[in-house]
Amino acid sequence: MNSPQNASSKPKLVPNLSLKERNTFGFEASTELAYEITSAEQIPVLMREVLHQKLSWRVLGGGSNVILPKLLPGVTLLMNITGQEIISSDDSSVLLAAGGGVNWHEFVTWTLDQNLPGLENLALIPGTVGAAPIQNIGAYGVEIGEYIESVEAFDAINQTFTAFTKEQCQFAYRDSHFKRNSNRFIVTRVIFRIPKQWMARIHYADFLKEFSGDSSPSPEEIFLAVCKIRTHKLPDPKVIGNAGSFFQNPIVPAEQFETLIHKFPELVSYPNAAGKRKLAAGWLIDQCGFKGQRMGNVGVYENQALVLVNYGNGTAQDILGLAKCIQDKVDDLFGVKLDIEPNIL
Ligand code: EPU
Repeated sequence: MNSPQNASSKPKLVPNLSLKERNTFGFEASTELAYEITSAEQIPVLMREVLHQKLSWRVLGGGSNVILPKLLPGVTLLMNITGQEIISSDDSSVLLAAGGGVNWHEFVTWTLDQNLPGLENLALIPGTVGAAPIQNIGAYGVEIGEYIESVEAFDAINQTFTAFTKEQCQFAYRDSHFKRNSNRFIVTRVIFRIPKQWMARIHYADFLKEFSGDSSPSPEEIFLAVCKIRTHKLPDPKVIGNAGSFFQNPIVPAEQFETLIHKFPELVSYPNAAGKRKLAAGWLIDQCGFKGQRMGNVGVYENQALVLVNYGNGTAQDILGLAKCIQDKVDDLFGVKLDIEPNIL
């Protein structure tokens, strides 16, 4: 999209770019200015200019975890740094690197093609490699933080590149140092450490049906099972706009959990750190009767109450209106607060 330029010339920002095709909700949205990043070297000059012009800015990867307004002021950086490689290998593990703009699912597929299993539970998660550490993507008992060696990012405050170790990334459930400091870091490259010793991780309930009787499926079989489960539960954004799980699974203190389980013995929950419990937000929303409900142009997906969908002409306002109804009802019935997962830009 950008015209070619060398790293030191003034970056050419593209005016009035539609982002409808670049957000999986499919909202009608555009950005005042856009700039496609295809290499890390472009960033320092670009960000100097952004600061100089006092432009607001944000990075857009796959657009799979964002709620876009009709018009984004300032500049939207379209992350498109590609490329993946094996960096090194020792007795116990292999180090891999991938650019921030690499499609996540294609990266997972590539690791399996290289005979490096480990990420198969995370197949078919929409988005990019660069976005993966920001919200510490997770599915079917695996979180990406476990496999990250380091994350390379440009720090817009210090105007320098920094490599963050796994510890410095401060990964938590759908959370990281990068997410807690939004609009500070531009993730350019992620380094993964894949252990050579592989073990199937299939304790997640959904796998029981898929592998009935087979306790040692291959990585490829797990990959296919994950694709099958996700395709059934989560709508294809190309067909119905959505951003995956719309709410985080809420984490409640042990005492609150005890009160809830006493009142609602069917409550679905998982153990969490420090005696807390993580509740299945999908179950809570389902119990409130929202599953399959439609509100104008938006609604709650019929196969998974945690997913809000855009039937075509919905807007950020519509989806946030529906979200508010759900949050209020869940709070009324269970006394539990639901947090929205995608970034509201
Ligand atoms: N449930 C219902 N009704 C529903 C949906 C769920 O009763 O409509 C109950 C079911 O009993 C189910 C339980 O809730 O067993 C949990 O649901 P599910 O297994 O579908 O997983 P989830 O908690 O809804 C989380 C992640 C997903 C991830 C899956 C699989 C969050 C917010 N969501 O969903 O991540 O794919 O587990 O590991 O943590 C995403 O973040 O975008 C995402 C899709």
